[in-house]
Amino acid sequence: MKLEQRKKRTVLVTGAAGFIGAFLCRRLLETTDDIVVGLDNLNNYYDPGIKEARLAMLREADRDGRFTFVRGDLCDAALLERLFAEHEFEMVVNLAAQAGVRYSIENPKAYIESNLVGFFNVLECCRHHPVKHLVYASSSSVYGGNEKVPFSEADNVDSPVSLYAATKKSNELMANAYSKLYSIPATGLRFFTVYGPMGRPDMAYFKFAKTLRVGGTIKIYNMGNCKRDFTYVDDIVEGICRVMDNPPEVTTGADGLPTPAARVYNIGHGDPNDLLDFVATLQRVFVEEGVLPEGYAFEAHRVLVPMQPGDVPVTYADTSALQRDFDYKPQTPLEDGLRAFAKWYRGYYGAIA
Ligand SMILES: NC(=O)c1ccc[n+]([C@@H]2O[C@H](COP(=O)([O-])OP(=O)(O)OC[C@H]3O[C@@H](n4cnc5c(N)ncnc54)[C@H](O)[C@@H]3O)[C@@H](O)[C@H]2O)c1
Repeated sequence: MKLEQRKKRTVLVTGAAGFIGAFLCRRLLETTDDIVVGLDNLNNYYDPGIKEARLAMLREADRDGRFTFVRGDLCDAALLERLFAEHEFEMVVNLAAQAGVRYSIENPKAYIESNLVGFFNVLECCRHHPVKHLVYASSSSVYGGNEKVPFSEADNVDSPVSLYAATKKSNELMANAYSKLYSIPATGLRFFTVYGPMGRPDMAYFKFAKTLRVGGTIKIYNMGNCKRDFTYVDDIVEGICRVMDNPPEVTTGADGLPTPAARVYNIGHGDPNDLLDFVATLQRVFVEEGVLPEGYAFEAHRVLVPMQPGDVPVTYADTSALQRDFDYKPQTPLEDGLRAFAKWYRGYYGAIA
């Protein structure tokens, strides 16, 4: 069904001031009649100024007062309960989480709280206030040290190599159990390195921009022998919207109980980029868009370093299931996506002095 043909729904988006959440809310405000409630605790894991800027973008996109922002924490079970009781959400998209692989070594508790306790609270609310569909963020990191590429949903994901990945895999298991027990249609989406304007400052492409601007030296991990499946944020949002519209069917199993209406899909570009090629494109686009000056001495500002604990050298998605079930495959070419990021970056941080 086309987005514009849908009837009005009430949607909860958690992590609404986050990177993906904000772009999802904007899309819902611009292309549907949905009433959107956005929840976010606006934590300071990275610059909260960017979260405020995303909320400003949403206020601008909200032409007819369909967006409500609630500052609050997923761990606040009473708050969630109040929101679900008040709004009777049809759709819940859970994007709030403590993200990042490296930070899970430094601050593991944040992952247990937001990703496990927080997600449990969301599931409990979906149990007591039935929803038509719960869509939630998983991650490509569940594939751990998987050496077989592309990563397919059928691959074994029992060996996470970071606490972050363990929490995301746990989310899939928890959703499966709740789906089976309480007939909650649930879809987990394994995102593969999402990038774009207003992106996350803790991610490599953003850090590269920041470091190069101040004349620092960027570290390229695994001596540059890394391949990543970079997915542009608009492509991710399109994928989420298509998935939201098509919940899995609840059926009855041989035991007379509902079978779990729970699915998991990869959402990635499906066409991995060599990290060094990615950096080369980023550098060129940065000069072209005025983020860095002409003639910048890139070679003097980069160093190849070994792998970090918890990282994996190659990640890329088998997107055939997404394509088969939703007729969708992310398309945005890397150069276009990086250019959009560079334009935003220059606007936000200003031209180089
Ligand atoms: N961006 C990527 O490349 C990527 C890749 C794989 C998975 N993911 C997952 O996708 C989701 C969205 O990622 P993102 O890149 O937009 O991250 P993000 O950090 O920009 O957004 C998450 C938002 O959730 C909020 N939040 C965190 N804990 C919260 C809590 N306990 N209560 C309320 N709000 C809370 C944060 O303030 C933040 O604004 C996350 O679940 C992340 O793990 C992202």
